[in-house]
Amino acid sequence: RGNSTVGETAKLLHKDASEVIKKLIALGVMATINQELDIETILLLAGEFGVEVEVKIAVEDDRFETIEEVDEEADLLERPPVVTIMGHVDHGKTTLLDAIRSTNVSSGEAGGITQHIGAYQVEINSKKITFLDTPGHEAFTAMRARGAQLTDITIIVVAADDGVMPQTVEAVSHAKAAGLPIIVAVNKIDKPDADPDRVKQELTEHGLVPEEWGGDTIFVNVSAKQKIGLEGLLEMILLVAEVNEYKANPNKRARGLVIEAELDKSRGPVARVLVQHGTLKVGDAFVAGNCFGRIRAMVSDKGRRLKEAGPSTPVEITGLTEVPKAGDPFMVFEDERKARSIAEKRAITQRQSDLGVNTRVTLDDLFQHI
Ligand code: GTP
Ligand code: MG
Repeated sequence: RGNSTVGETAKLLHKDASEVIKKLIALGVMATINQELDIETILLLAGEFGVEVEVKIAVEDDRFETIEEVDEEADLLERPPVVTIMGHVDHGKTTLLDAIRSTNVSSGEAGGITQHIGAYQVEINSKKITFLDTPGHEAFTAMRARGAQLTDITIIVVAADDGVMPQTVEAVSHAKAAGLPIIVAVNKIDKPDADPDRVKQELTEHGLVPEEWGGDTIFVNVSAKQKIGLEGLLEMILLVAEVNEYKANPNKRARGLVIEAELDKSRGPVARVLVQHGTLKVGDAFVAGNCFGRIRAMVSDKGRRLKEAGPSTPVEITGLTEVPKAGDPFMVFEDERKARSIAEKRAITQRQSDLGVNTRVTLDDLFQHI
């Protein structure tokens, strides 16, 4: 993605090409007169020569952000609700999800503290629900905020023996900021010192008034440990989902968000993504943030290999060239060439904004940021 050749750059700087080449060699760049230089190098040269340049960078319209697709009502089909579990540390979020899934994730966690967003799908009475588990530790505010972005419904878990705590309040505010329906799960009611009414009282002060007190927030008493009240909670989730009629068009190229990503020693970059629209298929060329790739393999939350994944499905994918960031949008394109060019444009835009470059900058502006 050259911007000007060495020759053109020399002209721009009012220097001889040979001077520019010498300077480049001094900077450790072996260059010929027809070689294309990128913007950073041109700016560096200008700085070396003490020349002020004004850079105008034209970035082609980045279709990735601006795609406006309109689905016909008839194309929209029911999809599972995405439900995010939030709440204060140790109030029992992962245990609750374990109980719902009848597995045992929480006992396998280091120190029993969740440090990432977990994504799972369960099926209840032939209706699917996608759950996201978030960490309650105060250090993970960004993950809770991201969880709120990804979701349709929030479950706020509050331990009945501990009551409303700082991250309970934080979770309520994330859910409210995202305009999400909230269901409160008052957990640990098996404990002798459990006081569910105190939780209701305290949450009323934060604007969540129980239905039985004349408000419109659903409260469900549960014990994740003794599996009490789980059915009632699931019923409430399905009820909220039914009222809101969550829909998506599964018959188009997939789009969604990266939940988490990391570099795996043997498999390379691995990303857990949530498909929000369309259907993701093995072999699809896609962009995730500034990265691109082609889906090599897709694995469900239960470790099963999938060929395709429709709306509201969390899947783990491989086939990326780099590791995207959590929260990055991903989108499938017609072919890998298109995906690559979009990813590259996004990388430039990103670099510009990292450098504080808009469309016009002077070197002074730029060097302040280097
Ligand atoms: P973070 O993810 O770190 O925020 O914690 P968490 O909210 O996921 O809590 P977790 O599920 O790890 O549970 C914390 C502790 O509470 C564990 O020791 C659980 O066994 C216990 N616990 C969870 N639910 C219940 C419950 O209903 N009753 C009782 N008695 N203990 C529970
Ligand atoms: Mg947890």
